[in-house]
Amino acid sequence: MDSITFSLYLLLSSSLSLLIFVLLRSSIITRRHLRLPPGTLGLPFLGETLHLISAYKSENPDPFIDDRVSQFGPIFTTHVFGEPTVFSADPETNRFILQNEGKLFESSYPGSISNLLGRHSLLLMKGSLHKRMHSLTMSFANSSIIRDHLMLDIDRLVRLNLESWTDRVLLMEEAKKITFELTVKQLMSFDPCEWTESLRKEYMLVIEGFFTIPLPLFSSTYRRAIQARSKVAEALSLVVRERRRESSERGERKNDMLGALMDEEGGGGGFSDEEIVDFLVALLVAGYETTSTIMTLAVKFLTETPLALAQLKEEHDEIRARKDNLEALEWNDYKSMPFTQCVVNETLRVANIISGVFRRAIMDVDVKGYTIPKGWKVFASLRAVHMDHDHFKDARSFNPWRWQTNSGTTNSVNLFTPFGGGPRRCPGAELARVELSVFLHHLVTRFSWVPAEEDKLVFFPTTRTQKRYPIILQRRNVPTSCIE
Ligand code: HEM
Repeated sequence: MDSITFSLYLLLSSSLSLLIFVLLRSSIITRRHLRLPPGTLGLPFLGETLHLISAYKSENPDPFIDDRVSQFGPIFTTHVFGEPTVFSADPETNRFILQNEGKLFESSYPGSISNLLGRHSLLLMKGSLHKRMHSLTMSFANSSIIRDHLMLDIDRLVRLNLESWTDRVLLMEEAKKITFELTVKQLMSFDPCEWTESLRKEYMLVIEGFFTIPLPLFSSTYRRAIQARSKVAEALSLVVRERRRESSERGERKNDMLGALMDEEGGGGGFSDEEIVDFLVALLVAGYETTSTIMTLAVKFLTETPLALAQLKEEHDEIRARKDNLEALEWNDYKSMPFTQCVVNETLRVANIISGVFRRAIMDVDVKGYTIPKGWKVFASLRAVHMDHDHFKDARSFNPWRWQTNSGTTNSVNLFTPFGGGPRRCPGAELARVELSVFLHHLVTRFSWVPAEEDKLVFFPTTRTQKRYPIILQRRNVPTSCIE
């Protein structure tokens, strides 16, 4: 999307909503004496969207929030992406928003994301179906499933990928390959092959369409994404049909997410192919992009903090020394990586790859003396809390040691929420932690590296490094040739 098209789009969508907002605001306040959170609506038509985008396209997006919090307090009104939005940088309010999912608020994604995910994806489901499918997803990615089934595949696929690395790689690309292969294996039991690689390429096009204008005429990226989405759906439908055939002809049932969805069917769910495909598409998106970004950023932060990298290496060299060189990591090994868990927490806190979650108020909601009117957008900023010096000492520096004492925070559990909270809390949280830990283990025990070029972290449209983090690698003295 070029900037002219983008501005035009914003102009069209914002002008109408701003007009409605101004009318609504004055009539709501006078008619019902509601007290909206303070704030500014920014430029006519565009609101504060361009400020937000330019802040998030830089390495330092926090002033966007800092300025408003110091002027208005931690709950303020702004106008972004065509809608008036109540923005919360307050941990208690965030918790209130997340916990009241389905009661006072409901999730609300931009049109481009909802269209590309498909209407039957977990991220868009509501009510009792959401509850049932959220717990089905949890049951497929919980600690005992990871320990008994997934751990071995995670270890094997990470090692296989690292084995094929050349002496210069784009880390973000390699990490994406790893997490895609892992997710496809968990969902459908496919090992990496040409089919999975071509599926991945289509997938990347789908994800690129997430942050564009959801109008094919305006945006060629969106057009390409829609085409790629139907190719992905077609490929996955074939898999679903083949599974149905295997199951009816031979009574076979694989122990993967697709198998669990088919069982749900037997249990009264009766899902159509389209429903199953949408569900799989969304899980692939949720698990693949997020975890690969966190892998890349962990390496970037560690590279920039040599003392932490040295301590991490020591922890993993000790684990390796207890094992045969080619022996897979087990759950007990994962559980004996205390410093790694500090690195994982700190990476999640500083990276904020999901900087916050959008919701919509389904009725007038009173919070901290203000009223959020029915129908309004709400943004619970997870980043604002993670980056707040009142909650985390010297909050804006990467300091994994903070997690060794006092759980890293000044007090409560509400402060550290990289996986959200409430009924929509990320069902892949533990899985992401395990994948990152196993990846770090094999990386630091096999390689040392230096950045190949300077690379910048940016936060819009998604959190990423501009150049996909190119690094130059050197193998350490660990035999790696006989990996199965
Ligand atoms: C570092 C990696 C990850 C981060 C930071 C992350 C973060 C999040 C957050 C903040 C949410 C809440 C969204 C909301 O409330 O609207 C979420 C939801 C979700 N995540 Fe993750 N996630 C990660 C990895 C994964 C993985 C590996 C999976 C694969 C199973 C996954 C699957 C999901 C799904 C399906 C949802 C939607 C849940 C629902 O709406 O009920 N995520 N994630």
